[in-house]
Amino acid sequence: MILVTGGCGFIGSAFILDWLAQGGEPVLNLDLLTYAGHLGNLRAVESDPRYRFVHGDIADGTRVAALLGEHRPRAIVHFAAESHVDRSIAGPQAFIHTNVVGTTRLLQAAHEHWSRLPPGEAQAFRFLNVSTDEVFGSLGASEPAFTEAHPYQPNSPYSASKASADHFARAWCHTFGLPVITTNCSNNYGPRQFPEKLIPLTIHNALAGQPLPVYGDGLQVRDWLHVGDHCAALRAVLERGRPGETYNIGGRAERTNLEVVHTICGVIDEARPGRTHAELIRHVGDRRGHDRRYAIDGSKIARELGWQPAVAFEQGIRDTVQWYLANAGWVESVTSGAYRRWVEQQYPALNAAA
Ligand code: NAD
Ligand code: DAU
Repeated sequence: MILVTGGCGFIGSAFILDWLAQGGEPVLNLDLLTYAGHLGNLRAVESDPRYRFVHGDIADGTRVAALLGEHRPRAIVHFAAESHVDRSIAGPQAFIHTNVVGTTRLLQAAHEHWSRLPPGEAQAFRFLNVSTDEVFGSLGASEPAFTEAHPYQPNSPYSASKASADHFARAWCHTFGLPVITTNCSNNYGPRQFPEKLIPLTIHNALAGQPLPVYGDGLQVRDWLHVGDHCAALRAVLERGRPGETYNIGGRAERTNLEVVHTICGVIDEARPGRTHAELIRHVGDRRGHDRRYAIDGSKIARELGWQPAVAFEQGIRDTVQWYLANAGWVESVTSGAYRRWVEQQYPALNAAA
């Protein structure tokens, strides 16, 4: 079996659903169910005998050690994190707790588990540390894309906490021999993404006829990857990746934020004719320390593991908008009072104008 951490979040749930749909072995999902974790994301596999959920904190080393001893996973796929940059600016401590302390406790428990395995199992064991391209910092408009050798230059509390986790993961591999692989992926989008991130927030607000907040000039660039492609890349890394290596994962889809928002508006104009949704765009104050551009050089994973993205960005956005249109109940269930309080705090200018 495999242990997945943070499996009730956006990418972790997509990974578990895909894994089980493809006939994968049993999964134990350890998740704290923060504001970003939703049991409903895994409703489709709730009664699958191969799936089991455990409510808990990755930073609880005793608990994690007991789970590893009881279930003896052959791999850990580590998604659990505080993942939203704006929340890391509003309150960095939770990011240090989960992303740094939590990851190191997990590494320590994994190492103790791994050192007790018989040689064959120890050799096959993998700790897959799911990380981000944000650890590399910001690129100028004409600079080449991030390779795996790019220096770490994190700029936000979120990216600093993920960079720290990556350094500890590397150290546990180098010093203690734990077979760790780290992946650094670009911006994901797709079904079940919490509507605090740009794409689901824009879809959610456009469908509700609410303003679409764009930070600063909106010309910041991100590389976008459909979450299903990310899951396929992670499966390839787990199967064929080399311990001690890192792999960049990207979507070959660099877009400015304004291009992304206009693409979504165009799709929603077709689905809900009668208004031009781009009229809802509002430029608001910029994110503090806002990284200008991320871009991924994905040649290593393509060359070594034969993985490349399959979903074209415009088609992926169409499918994602369709998912949100068909799943209004999911959106309703995750946009509780706490979500509304976050939106009020994060977008004061829009609330004042409303
Ligand atoms: P998410 O915020 O949607 O989900 C995080 C999950 O982790 C939630 O289910 C939450 O309950 C759980 N969690 C948080 N703290 C925990 C703790 N202490 N113990 C156990 N569980 C805890 O995040 P996501 O967007 O699915 O991202 C998953 C991973 O992928 C993160 O490590 C993130 O840094 C990385 N990543 C995300 C993106 C992206 O675009 N979303 C891109 C690259 C890398
Ligand atoms: O690059 C990978 C990272 O992508 C992941 O590691 C993070 O977990 C994930 O949150 C994401 O980080 P970003 O900060 O790039 O994503 P976000 O959706 O928050 O913002 C995307 C861009 O859109 C960024 O330039 C900020 C801008 N933005 C965002 C929001 C929420 C806006 O202009 N308006 C908004 O309201």
